[in-house]
Amino acid sequence: MDPFGRTIDYLRLSVTDRCNERCLYCMPENYRPWTQRGDHLSADEIVRIAATATELGFRKFRLTGGEPLIRPDIVDIARRIWDLAGVQTLGVSTNALMLPRLAEPLKQAGVRSINISLDTLDPMVYQRLTGGRLAAVLAGIDAAVAAGFECIKLNCVLLRGINDEQVLALAEFGAARAMPVRFIELMPLAPDGALDERHFFSVAEAMTRLARHDALDPATTKPVGHGPARYYRLRRSGGLVGFIGAVTCTDFCASCNKLRLTADGKLRPCLGRHGEIDLLDALRCDAMTASVLPAAIHQAIANKPEKHAFADEFEVARPMTAIGG
Ligand code: 5AD
Ligand code: SF4
Repeated sequence: MDPFGRTIDYLRLSVTDRCNERCLYCMPENYRPWTQRGDHLSADEIVRIAATATELGFRKFRLTGGEPLIRPDIVDIARRIWDLAGVQTLGVSTNALMLPRLAEPLKQAGVRSINISLDTLDPMVYQRLTGGRLAAVLAGIDAAVAAGFECIKLNCVLLRGINDEQVLALAEFGAARAMPVRFIELMPLAPDGALDERHFFSVAEAMTRLARHDALDPATTKPVGHGPARYYRLRRSGGLVGFIGAVTCTDFCASCNKLRLTADGKLRPCLGRHGEIDLLDALRCDAMTASVLPAAIHQAIANKPEKHAFADEFEVARPMTAIGG
């Protein structure tokens, strides 16, 4: 339990800060300060942290990045985490580019759920936003379906003037495939000014836009996943849509249940506040690992703030790709 009565049992593990795309909202265009190779956690180190977390009651794990699937040992990492006693669910967040090759091995390794970034269905807009090819992502989505994951969700970051006209098309794309689509408010985590507050499009506006075409009924069934999305069922298409009002919803943080581990070994209590606990020394000194790791995780839980600070003058120190999306 953290100081605000929240149970913290979800650990998001960023396995790399690198990516084979460069989304405008995540990675600054000239981003170069990649974590040095030697500072990246090894598979053993990641698994050791996950194992310690399970001993402290963590039950939900997600592999993220950067793009987690570019790590050659990603399937091995997934399998070893899934094999830990106490792990209830394991997910991966990905841009889907490498799923044609990796969906099946990840499924075999124990991965239960896949979250795929899909911000637009327009190939030109996709190219502008991510630098990548939409057709490759669609092939990745098909591969995830073929592998038979329990849950495949689509994530769309709302961007005025870029994809706000696509909200209905994305919701219907998800509905046709029985995939929940989550609309996420832009968080100020890309520091080079590629996007600014003029691009901000709130979840309330997205709901209004959808409601022009289809009624939104609050979803009454068990929520999907373990995050902070609020879900609605579209009456006509039957699709499930979730809204992640990270910036505008004042009670957004009330149900926060997670800690993050960055690819360079820092535990981060909150995406939207500075303050990290560095685990690297402890991990690289065997004598320290046993005692320091649990203490560091306890400390990160104790340091969890009540709320993020996006609304106050939050200065971006590390972009999303370095923190772990
Ligand atoms: N604001 C909101 N969501 C973001 N993501 C990355 N950067 C941002 C941002 N600045 C989310 C996207 C992506 C996932 C990895 O993280 O949804 O799918
Ligand atoms: Fe890569 Fe995901 Fe960041 Fe896009 S949002 S640049 S796909 S890590």
